[in-house]
Amino acid sequence: MPNDPVAARVWALAGPARVSRAPETAAANAACDALETRVGDLLDRMTLAEKIGQMAQVNGHEGSVSEELRAAVAGGRVGAILNEVHLPTANELQRIAVEESRLGIPLLMGRDVIHGFRTILPIPLGQAASFNPELARQGARMAAQEAAAAGINWSFAPMLDITRDPRWGRVAETFGEDPYLFSRFAEAMVRGLQGDDLARPGSIAACAKHFAGYGASESGRDYNTTNIPEIELRNVHLPTFRAALDAGAATFMSSFSALNGVPASANRFLLRQVLREEWGFDGFVVSDWAAISQLTIHGLAADQREAAFAAASAGVNMEMASSAYTDHLAGLVADGHLEEALLDELVCAILQVKFRLGLFDSPYTDPAALPPAASEDHLALARRSALQSLVLLENKDGVLPLSPDRLRSVAVIGPLADDPYEQLGTWVFDGDTALSRTPLHAIREFLGEGVAVHHARAMETTRSRSTAGFDEAVAAAGRADAVMVFLGEESILSGEAHSRANIDLPGNQADLVRVLADTGKPLIAVVMAGRPLTLGNIIEEVDALLFAWHPGTMGGPAIADVLFGIESPSGKLPVTFPRMVGQVPIYYAHGNTGKPATLEQFQHMDDLPVRTPQTSSGLVSAHLDAGFTPQYPFGFGLSYTRFGYSDLSLSSQAIVMGETLTVRVRVTNLGACEADEIVQLYLRDPVASVVRPVRELKGFQRIRLAGGESREVEFMLAPADLAFIGQDLREVVEPGAFHLWVGGDSRAELHARFTLLERPSSDPESP
Ligand code: NOJ
Repeated sequence: MPNDPVAARVWALAGPARVSRAPETAAANAACDALETRVGDLLDRMTLAEKIGQMAQVNGHEGSVSEELRAAVAGGRVGAILNEVHLPTANELQRIAVEESRLGIPLLMGRDVIHGFRTILPIPLGQAASFNPELARQGARMAAQEAAAAGINWSFAPMLDITRDPRWGRVAETFGEDPYLFSRFAEAMVRGLQGDDLARPGSIAACAKHFAGYGASESGRDYNTTNIPEIELRNVHLPTFRAALDAGAATFMSSFSALNGVPASANRFLLRQVLREEWGFDGFVVSDWAAISQLTIHGLAADQREAAFAAASAGVNMEMASSAYTDHLAGLVADGHLEEALLDELVCAILQVKFRLGLFDSPYTDPAALPPAASEDHLALARRSALQSLVLLENKDGVLPLSPDRLRSVAVIGPLADDPYEQLGTWVFDGDTALSRTPLHAIREFLGEGVAVHHARAMETTRSRSTAGFDEAVAAAGRADAVMVFLGEESILSGEAHSRANIDLPGNQADLVRVLADTGKPLIAVVMAGRPLTLGNIIEEVDALLFAWHPGTMGGPAIADVLFGIESPSGKLPVTFPRMVGQVPIYYAHGNTGKPATLEQFQHMDDLPVRTPQTSSGLVSAHLDAGFTPQYPFGFGLSYTRFGYSDLSLSSQAIVMGETLTVRVRVTNLGACEADEIVQLYLRDPVASVVRPVRELKGFQRIRLAGGESREVEFMLAPADLAFIGQDLREVVEPGAFHLWVGGDSRAELHARFTLLERPSSDPESP
């Protein structure tokens, strides 16, 4: 097709020469027309230009309406705005859309409401450490209400990209490495943002992003290429999106990245086959920021016209920020390259979401209908969320909790001890730093007049290379009974396009720890960061190590509660912490390989005898320098008490396909201190038609036990928990033996086994 303005390769992607609705979506569309007569009626009255207008999302001007924007909205050339959070302006834009445009279609007002709005919760990765999706739901509800009061009706959240690479800056926005845990948070976030009814004040549309595979960017470098075999895509990367869809997510966002050679924003496999045809999604897809325009930079489209064609024919309903649709869709229809029916399908889904949000009936925001932002309730929720996200990684000789009665003075040191901004983390456009309670503030408040608090920042930022502040810090430590040092990463070191190749503590922080350790004072390190860090160079030096992620507005009081034993730490790692960055990707649900390592077999390079002869026998899968175990495993986190696991029992040693298995275990608080524990259940299918992970999380419960208390905890394993995507890319459950473990982290040892039978058998032992 050499003379055709739309290049042959893009045609090939699109399939038929004239792209109209896929038959499956046409059926769905007919249903949508019937159900939503108002959508159908509206669509019938729309000109082609007005339809294309609905497919455009443009950036707001943050507090004002330019003449250009006013004209575009009044002219029906804009369907959605992003980044306008000044309520009078948002309402004015809605007024222009409703009163001045020909058909009066209200606007979607989008914003990245990722982990809070004015009140900031821990970063999503921190929230995942709570293993408490219900708390995340409440947090998302709070954020939705605060954002709605600013005129927002659509959040670009939740972010659902599984990643196993802590170098990737956007790991901060994820709920970790595990599809099961992550999916529970995906559902919770959607339910929190959208509420029971999208049309109720305080409900905003969710956006499942970034569809799909974005978290597998090569070398953790943001936007980088992803190559994911379909079997892994379906087993690991897609379940979080499916969970969000099942929870009712109104919109999806296509990723910046290319998946297996095809950019997600033009990826018919993802957007048509999987999302619409297999999953029956009837909401709409927005591209990521200028991702349609970037199809030319990827090298998939020669120009913006081809880019518009590729994205529209793949099923991207709305273009964020760039203008390939605005500039070229009409021409593509006029030339017969796209059928208007395809645009009808894409626009119908957008209108439907606007109807579901109730925008046609009440387009304006009345903040009086919503709870006030940053109320005491919101702050209390943020504190609870931060508290449950804290993970205690080391506590040598029980140095924590500190007992205030035995302290005359403490030192509070470090670049993150008193920084109201940095503790908030990435994606906090609307976070109010004036609300932040820092650790220094909270420690002073908690200890009161009776205990002297010596504060030294020691380093200007986490990246500082100067040691100029060290002497003051050492002097402060010298005068104290205990030293608390607040380290980590500033917010800007994680998040979009902020990946790192070295994930040690930046700057001179390890040196600071060393000089503080030399004082001989009890040394407690609290690390705030947007990712797992390699902590090997401070672990030996410190007495206790508390990982706080970026804990948000109420990080300070939550941390003080744990340091002084008001609460026991209870967070557990939602990601594996490597010893060295070279181990990445390292995750607990890995394949066994044909030569799995054991401690007995593994030989460190330092122990290799000189001139050890080369051989292929007896070798195992490990790094000569890093071994094969992580620094801290998935699911790990210490408590101020110890929990015992016993009496593991199954409702049956054998179940038949389709049946549910009940698993019971007794959990006992072996200490005196009341505390929460996250009880975790892992499963393994040891022989299957494709290699299954050595362990997979299939259940977890946060329980609270008083000192000495014991409780039976029950899990139900449903048939779906035994399923996986097999060689033919379909979901399968295969009969045979299964192993399960229950315990407090992914190394849990309490073990049981059961058999899954194809049909009832008199002998439960024979599959
Ligand atoms: C780009 C990011 O990738 C996406 O997550 C975000 O929602 C949009 N920008 C809008 O800010």
